[in-house]
Amino acid sequence: MTAEKGGFDHFMLKEIHEQPKAYHDTMLGRISEDGRSVVLPELKISAEKLRGINRVHIVACGTAYHAGLVGKSIIENLVRIPVETDVASEYRYRSPIITPDTLVIVVSQSGETADTLAALREAQRNGAHVLAITNVVGSSVAREADDVIITLAGPEIAVASTKAYSSQLIAFYLFGLYWAQTNGTQDEATVANILAAMQALPEQVEKILAQAEVIKGVAESISKHDSLFFIGRGLDYAVAMEGSLKLKEISYIHSEAYPAGELKHGTLALIEEGIPVIALITQEGLYEKTLSNIKEVKARGADVLGIINEGHEAEVAKSTDRQFAIPRTLPLLTPALSVVPLQLLSYYASLALGHDVDKPRNLAKSVTVE
Ligand code: G6P
Repeated sequence: MTAEKGGFDHFMLKEIHEQPKAYHDTMLGRISEDGRSVVLPELKISAEKLRGINRVHIVACGTAYHAGLVGKSIIENLVRIPVETDVASEYRYRSPIITPDTLVIVVSQSGETADTLAALREAQRNGAHVLAITNVVGSSVAREADDVIITLAGPEIAVASTKAYSSQLIAFYLFGLYWAQTNGTQDEATVANILAAMQALPEQVEKILAQAEVIKGVAESISKHDSLFFIGRGLDYAVAMEGSLKLKEISYIHSEAYPAGELKHGTLALIEEGIPVIALITQEGLYEKTLSNIKEVKARGADVLGIINEGHEAEVAKSTDRQFAIPRTLPLLTPALSVVPLQLLSYYASLALGHDVDKPRNLAKSVTVE
């Protein structure tokens, strides 16, 4: 068993460390040699059909749902088509408006989640084209979908998903760019620029992993608390939701992810002396606004860890107790980096509390009942 863990104490830690390879492998062969375009030969959907799509539904469960929230921003940003992201167990019951011009994207690591599979079938019954993003070739979702993009994260054993989530983001970036090229919504230089930044991600994740000890220290202090908050705006909020879920799953510490600007409409009442707040502030366009929200919690005594961009240390230091800097990338790509310190945070918090990191109580790797 130790050998299977490649020298790591747990599968989760091994899988967190496999992310540079997972990113690399998921991109491999899908970027043209000159680095200027995405090639997805596996897609059957014609350019004409893709150009006719006017609505997207992303449907998934758990961590894959959180990848879908980032996927919504990616597609809306690059292709300018409206996207809704739904939890699969809710989707079918809200009478979603599905037409033959709807693209339904189901996201599932295992490809066997019952609710996600049921959503896929419902979408097809209504005439939608279904694209699956999954990690398992030959899974039920992969077999039944009209199109499949396989993430090449390799087998994920730990119940808490890490490399599958981040590889799903890579799949969304690739598909979003491919679609933008097809529809002509982004010019070649923009696509090439994003692709170059994507290819730098594996090395940037390595840089984050090399600083795991910093996060370990924060995790140990967090593990003494019963409750905490993750805050952020825009894509930072989407990543905050995943960070909060990860922490709940394996450390059993209650946490809530909140859009930073919405705090003052109620939840700020819960901020008191010493409560840990993990504040993500990586979206350049939202920097000033988020910083002012951080100051609001700081003024009420919160113990703030800032997940920040390199170069912002000095300014953010005035409003946070500790900072963790991620390497610079394009705002759209930051989730692929900022999620890594949050994965490490939950791992080390769970470890500090003596929990079974790889097999948390009450949870299963794949849920095949509705
Ligand atoms: C279970 C797992 C989660 C996972 C979810 C969806 O609840 O514990 O980690 O995110 O299922 O799984 P899927 O295989 O569809 O991505």
